Amino acid sequence: MEERVVSSEAETSDHSFELSLRPQTLNQYIGQDKVKDNLSIFIEAARMRQETLDHVLLYGPPGLGKTTLAAVIANEMGVNLRTTSGPAIERPGDLAAILTSLEPGDVLFIDEIHRLPRSIEEVLYPAMEDFCLDIVIGNGPSARSVRLDLPPFTLVGATTRAGALSAPLRDRFGVLCRLEYYNEEQLREIVIRTSDILDTVIDGMASVELARRSRGTPRIANRLLRRVRDFAQVRGNGEITAELASHALELLQVDRLGLDHIDHKLLRGIIERFRGGPVGLDTIAASIGEESHTIEDVYEPYLLQIGFLQRTPRGRVVTSSVYEHFGMEIPDL
Ligand code: ADE
Repeated sequence: MEERVVSSEAETSDHSFELSLRPQTLNQYIGQDKVKDNLSIFIEAARMRQETLDHVLLYGPPGLGKTTLAAVIANEMGVNLRTTSGPAIERPGDLAAILTSLEPGDVLFIDEIHRLPRSIEEVLYPAMEDFCLDIVIGNGPSARSVRLDLPPFTLVGATTRAGALSAPLRDRFGVLCRLEYYNEEQLREIVIRTSDILDTVIDGMASVELARRSRGTPRIANRLLRRVRDFAQVRGNGEITAELASHALELLQVDRLGLDHIDHKLLRGIIERFRGGPVGLDTIAASIGEESHTIEDVYEPYLLQIGFLQRTPRGRVVTSSVYEHFGMEIPDL
């Protein structure tokens, strides 16, 4: 089957359950207040001038709502959302096909934009800057370049690592938004909102418990909520109580701080095999059988945020909080 490089939201509705949980407007979107405040001004200004919104780069750890925000931006601008991702675009022609099929004003969302090959980035530069496409026709001495006009559009790029973007690409985004981890109260609001949509009763303490164990990440909060809801349905009367939530989370191997078995494997690995560090990322990754990229993009950011891990020039080091969390004696250094 031919791989689909781009899809509209309507076409991806096999995830309609997931999408239906997502906020549609900036007002419904909980948290990320600074990002929302800025975006609401830029969106309103663009609408007043009847222009497209400038290109937006959303960056930050996974699961914080970059895709959701792209959909909210398109919705608030009253335009279509077209979605693709860096790894899905393999040839310059793939990107040219997407760009030439846009309607004026559309939002083109490119997830994992740091994974776009350089040769394709170069197609993007004139498209972003002047809404045009330079196409080379023929090859050798008879090759010539033809310039195609594109409809004006807004590129929304998302990445977990802004640092991995080339400077020329990064510089072409007019709006840069860094998404932060959510606090407990915001996650609690998200859990309550999702429970409402799922028609599930959850008590106050249970929502606090879920919020606390979601690593500052709405995607995790909603995932844990769905699993706990399964337990409530099968083992209880469908209502999520604090006691049931704690029990279910224990069975899901999610600890008090929301750390899962991979976090544990990572932290214990550094303590037990490398005396707490410093140890290089690739060395830890190899020793616990995980990908360096996954550790760096998915696990490490939260562990750094809660002060369990430090990055030093000589490698990663666990802090005394980790020993305390595991009930281990803190070694003399
Ligand atoms: N569901 C997931 N993320 C959300 C957010 N930031 N606001 C509201 N609902 C959400």
